[in-house]
Amino acid sequence: MKVTEKLWLGKLTTPLPDRHLPIYSWFEMKEAFSRGLVLLLADTWGLGESDLVLDPFCGTGTTPLACRELGLDCIGYDVHPVLLLAARVKLRDYDAAKLKEQVEKFLKDKFERQEVDAPGFVTRVFPRAVLEEVVSVRQRIFEMDDEAIREFLLLGLAIAAMRCSWAHKDGAAIKVVRRPIPPLLRELGRQLRRMCGDIERFRAKGSRVRVEFCDARRMNLPDASVDAVITSPPYLGKNEYFSAYRLEQWIMGIEGPRPSDLIGSGESDFSEVADLVGEKPRESLSYFRDLFEVIKEIKRVCRAGANICLVVSDGCLPGGPVDVCQTLGELAERAGLRAKSLVIVNKRYCTTPSRKKLGITKEGLLIWNR
Ligand SMILES: C[S@@+](CC[C@H](N)C(=O)[O-])C[C@H]1O[C@@H](n2cnc3c(N)ncnc32)[C@H](O)[C@@H]1O
Repeated sequence: MKVTEKLWLGKLTTPLPDRHLPIYSWFEMKEAFSRGLVLLLADTWGLGESDLVLDPFCGTGTTPLACRELGLDCIGYDVHPVLLLAARVKLRDYDAAKLKEQVEKFLKDKFERQEVDAPGFVTRVFPRAVLEEVVSVRQRIFEMDDEAIREFLLLGLAIAAMRCSWAHKDGAAIKVVRRPIPPLLRELGRQLRRMCGDIERFRAKGSRVRVEFCDARRMNLPDASVDAVITSPPYLGKNEYFSAYRLEQWIMGIEGPRPSDLIGSGESDFSEVADLVGEKPRESLSYFRDLFEVIKEIKRVCRAGANICLVVSDGCLPGGPVDVCQTLGELAERAGLRAKSLVIVNKRYCTTPSRKKLGITKEGLLIWNR
């Protein structure tokens, strides 16, 4: 596997370049990569109409959304209900005028505050008055029959409510930072109108794009049906997906992910990866075992010649850095893929909570070929 360093590409593996882009910017997910990465790969690989792109870890839907812009077919999978809802709302094909009308009608409603019975992790970050309004707005949304508008409003409510909270996300931890808070209904109106404006501005080329609940270890796809894979698996040692979005989950009134659905969960047979992972900390065994399952699935669903890019990062565990970039390359070869190159795009210190440096971790693009 050829290893090169292109640190100027590092920004593309973050959501920062998309912070002000219509639709892409709707739901903040710090692990997301950017639209620019998908455009760069699609151009480099010469993808065109009728090509099917797969993102088995689609999160809030960056890959499928960029494919909509490019006119490529795309399937995105994830197991996180909050992220999937955000992705569905971002990807729907709306009648912009009708949506605007429905939103304006909704905003004219009167929302009477309601008694709230919320768990402690919610009450500590919201003033009671805001929570009472959140519950009242949510109740009205739940009463709507049309799923598309219901999910659109729920996402808008979650985004607006988070701005009217004292929550400050620091990785998986949610800290309380007291500060002046804007009125919820004003913030909700702004957010929903901004989203309607984004829908009007966004230019999609007709293609078939969908996201669905599916475990990447067992994909819902026939053999040799995919032309390219663009994805970013969860990071080793960052089991944040389980709890990072619990406030949004509560606001939207939906279930969180099941721990056993997440990569790196549970104990089982490690024999296929034990020799490669032997030197590494035990907690990385289930991570590599699960990603090996995913890699074998990628091999199965890709047609011969398909291009594959995984954005990955080495792990930083209490004992120090754990190589992920090279290990996944070796697992790809073992699964029968050709691990062509590793392009290192970021290097960071792996530190202890007290900032003691333990070593350097790399973030890179793994480029493979079926
Ligand atoms: C690094 S994030 C992907 C972010 C995405 N590229 C974006 O731009 O929004 C990894 C994703 O993997 C998902 N995930 C974890 N375990 C999974 C599994 N077994 N199958 C499918 N998705 C999974 C998480 O919910 C998370 O959304």
